[in-house]
Amino acid sequence: MVQITYIDSGGTVRTVKAEVGSTVMETAIKNDIPGIEAECGGACACATCHVYVDEAWREKVGAPTPMEEDMLDFGFDVRPNSRLSCQIKVSDELDGLVVSTPERQA
Ligand code: FES
Repeated sequence: MVQITYIDSGGTVRTVKAEVGSTVMETAIKNDIPGIEAECGGACACATCHVYVDEAWREKVGAPTPMEEDMLDFGFDVRPNSRLSCQIKVSDELDGLVVSTPERQA
């Protein structure tokens, strides 16, 4: 188990345990984290699981694939550190990861 922290647009911080092998989106849904809708269920086909990766974690999390980038075009208020949380796999290396959720989803 590793820990992931979600910060919502109002500044509320929620830290939860995540299973290695699951995704940042699945962890959010399982823990009732507000601000992540995940309408497509993780198929990289909706952009409603959009998060901002904390600057300190950007390198470890890595860049989106071209397919994810295309889908991110549909996201709300997309920034250079935007990712789709269903495409971020939880691993031991991501223990302590911090992401924030946008004001709203697309
Ligand atoms: S859940 Fe739909 S793109 Fe991530």
